[in-house]
Amino acid sequence: MDNPVAVIGGAGSVGRLVVAGLVSRGEQVRVVSRRARPGGSVAAFRADVRDRESLGAPLAGCSAVVVSVEPGTSDSGPNSPKATMYDGVLNVLDAATAGGEKPHIVLVSQIYVTRSNHPINSTGRMLDWRLAGEDAVRSSGLPYTVVRPSWLTGGGTGGVRLEQGDTGDGQISRQAVADACVQALYLPSARSLTFEMYGAPGSAPADWDDLFQALAPDSATAR
Ligand SMILES: NC(=O)c1ccc[n+]([C@@H]2O[C@H](COP(=O)([O-])OP(=O)(O)OC[C@H]3O[C@@H](n4cnc5c(N)ncnc54)[C@H](OP(=O)(O)O)[C@@H]3O)[C@@H](O)[C@H]2O)c1
Repeated sequence: MDNPVAVIGGAGSVGRLVVAGLVSRGEQVRVVSRRARPGGSVAAFRADVRDRESLGAPLAGCSAVVVSVEPGTSDSGPNSPKATMYDGVLNVLDAATAGGEKPHIVLVSQIYVTRSNHPINSTGRMLDWRLAGEDAVRSSGLPYTVVRPSWLTGGGTGGVRLEQGDTGDGQISRQAVADACVQALYLPSARSLTFEMYGAPGSAPADWDDLFQALAPDSATAR
């Protein structure tokens, strides 16, 4: 890519694997998080998605932004899911485009977001606000990919099943989620896609393009 890729949450369990994947491809990477530690081999920026001002420098001039941030769990206020997953996403979209850029946005969300009766939604309407954040990305006019992991596990990538419609349940390795985020930045077939990720028997995908091409691009109102 011509310009840096910002990974917000790039020190987290998925984010650091995304960073490693991008670094191995020779990309300029910016790790962005509240407690990022500048001085390492990868550029690190301290910023909080809830604080629009803090995002200005880290997101300026980026070719792509991966958002892999863990939401707060209070019912309201700064530690609520709304503050991170909705207001925070709006801040990211605003900051990432402030200089006229049109970066590819990859948003790590989760399964269940359209199932508002799920118990996870009783925590600050977590699922409703995650879905609202997804909707903001889908309607941003930017190239985007929304990745909805099922329950995260360690270990190797293994087989991967991508679904749409948010009806499933299961597990997926962090490495597979990170691989999907990285691949999405290079494959045009991943643009305008929202999909869920589950583990499957077999080995790691040989061709992510095949997996992405088997999915339906979002329509303007798709969920
Ligand atoms: N756990 C599961 O089974 C599961 C299932 C589906 C989806 N997911 C989702 O997958 C995503 C990645 O998960 P993960 O395990 O990698 O999370 P994680 O290890 O907790 O990492 C989250 C990262 O976000 C950063 N962060 C948190 N709040 C921030 C804020 N306000 N502004 C900027 N950065 C912030 C954290 O760093 P600082 O603390 O330094 O800011 C950290 O680097 C999350 O959205 C998670 O909810 C998880």
